[in-house]
Amino acid sequence: MSEQTYNELLYDCVLGYEFQPSELAIMSRLFGLNPPPVATARILDIGCGDGTHIIGVAQSLPNSHCVGIDYAANAIAIGQKTIDDIGLKNVTLHTANLCDLQVDLGQFDYITAHGFYSWVSEEVQQALLRFCQQHLSENGLVYLSYNTLPGWHAKNMVRDMMKHHVSPSQSLSEQAQSARQLIQFAAQLHQEGKNYYAQFLTDINAHLSGLPDSYIVHEYLAEENHPVYFQDFMRTVSSFQLNYVTDIEFKKYQHLQLKQFLEEQLQVRDALAQEQYVDFLFKREFRSSILCRQGITVAREPQLAVLENVYYAAELGYQVNPNQADTLTFNTAKGQRFDSNDSLLNAALSLLAEHYPRRLSFAELLQQACQRLNVFLDYATFSQQLLPHLWQLYLIDAISLYTEAQSPADVLSEYPVASPLARWQARQGKAVANLLCKTGELDPLALSLLAQLDGSKTKTDLIEGLVQQWQRGELNIGDPNAPQKITEEQARATLAPFVEQMLVGFLRNALLIA
Ligand SMILES: C[S@@+](CC[C@H](N)C(=O)[O-])C[C@H]1O[C@@H](n2cnc3c(N)ncnc32)[C@H](O)[C@@H]1O
Repeated sequence: MSEQTYNELLYDCVLGYEFQPSELAIMSRLFGLNPPPVATARILDIGCGDGTHIIGVAQSLPNSHCVGIDYAANAIAIGQKTIDDIGLKNVTLHTANLCDLQVDLGQFDYITAHGFYSWVSEEVQQALLRFCQQHLSENGLVYLSYNTLPGWHAKNMVRDMMKHHVSPSQSLSEQAQSARQLIQFAAQLHQEGKNYYAQFLTDINAHLSGLPDSYIVHEYLAEENHPVYFQDFMRTVSSFQLNYVTDIEFKKYQHLQLKQFLEEQLQVRDALAQEQYVDFLFKREFRSSILCRQGITVAREPQLAVLENVYYAAELGYQVNPNQADTLTFNTAKGQRFDSNDSLLNAALSLLAEHYPRRLSFAELLQQACQRLNVFLDYATFSQQLLPHLWQLYLIDAISLYTEAQSPADVLSEYPVASPLARWQARQGKAVANLLCKTGELDPLALSLLAQLDGSKTKTDLIEGLVQQWQRGELNIGDPNAPQKITEEQARATLAPFVEQMLVGFLRNALLIA
């Protein structure tokens, strides 16, 4: 039934930046683990759907070996076509039921199963955990996402209403529409209400309106959707010799004085028991947990000493604060702003901002910051001064940490090369995945330029290409409603800085291969 459902209404698959191997590696390092090298890792995505995630990971790590499995043949066929079109060599997809695998896939350093565990029967859950137990390399990591209680108690009410309302005689899309209608109606009915239920319906209705039909079908109307309490999940995974490391959302709960409150006020001292309380206190609905083999020692607090041995990158803009000359105002990629008048931090962050997406080791960062400030490097003092700031910035996602140095291009080469996947997506007019596994939209002209970056064209070639497009009347320059007669030279002079700006934009967006 489920296999048929996934074949009939394909799931809108995601490229998961947050659970790509380099993110799992750095988080596990912070919790005291020594994860396998990412660049050459063997990586498996279970329930990979159309391969959106594993193909994105494979293009970002060209020396890795990636595998995806899913029993929905229609989804795998889409992924296989993408791989064939692009000519990607380091990823293979298999149409296979995890419970009945006919091939020996070997050992893996990173096993991910996003949107899988809660959405399959207990038998398949056991097959998943058994597979991980048997196929995880010695220091390997497993990533599983799942719905949790108590948060899903409330959502289960919506699920029950929806399941009651839809009819099996409807197509899956019709079922999604009927389910939406019911919740919309309930939300409207209570729109003047001030009680908990009215607020809940308003929120859930807004949440549903932003989701595709496939999500409603596979989440709310699915036959299998089994939220679990964290403590029960832990009990189950430990019977398969797997141990909890952390959740990819761990940063969200770090800055709160939770630990202290749980220990002092509620006398909950065990770190894993505290995790369950976090779920109670925040009505948590979803977890994305990282697991390792049992027997590996996991630190129950992030180890800040690790920060001295990792790589840093930061997608930041900055300017001098007009009112205070010693203060810099930084803007993060997520739209946050913060001021700093700490000269060492300012030197380090401005360096990262200027070199983005290049990764700098902590030693390089400190050394170059000192050069910028024209001061002698006093490693012990300066690292003590800088590290707590960097940690706080990591917690708000203002900077990124990596276990490995390899990064996308950070200087424009004469013949720029975009990744084959991004070029292919650009040709299709789709959102493009960058080399850090982030997906973004580009306008049609940017897409057409990106599609051409196969390493055979210089900036001048690209400008000339656009001039020819303009000559053929395929490209407007200036205001199309008030066309002006311009010469070829004027067109070239207008297009040159535009192309330069686009290329720098591609570079900053980690779309170009080093
Ligand atoms: C909710 S989707 C998640 C897809 C993808 N991981 C994502 O998050 O974008 C779950 C996927 O697991 C696959 N699946 C479910 N049970 C399976 C099984 N026993 N063996 C193989 N694939 C399975 C489904 O076909 C579906 O593509």
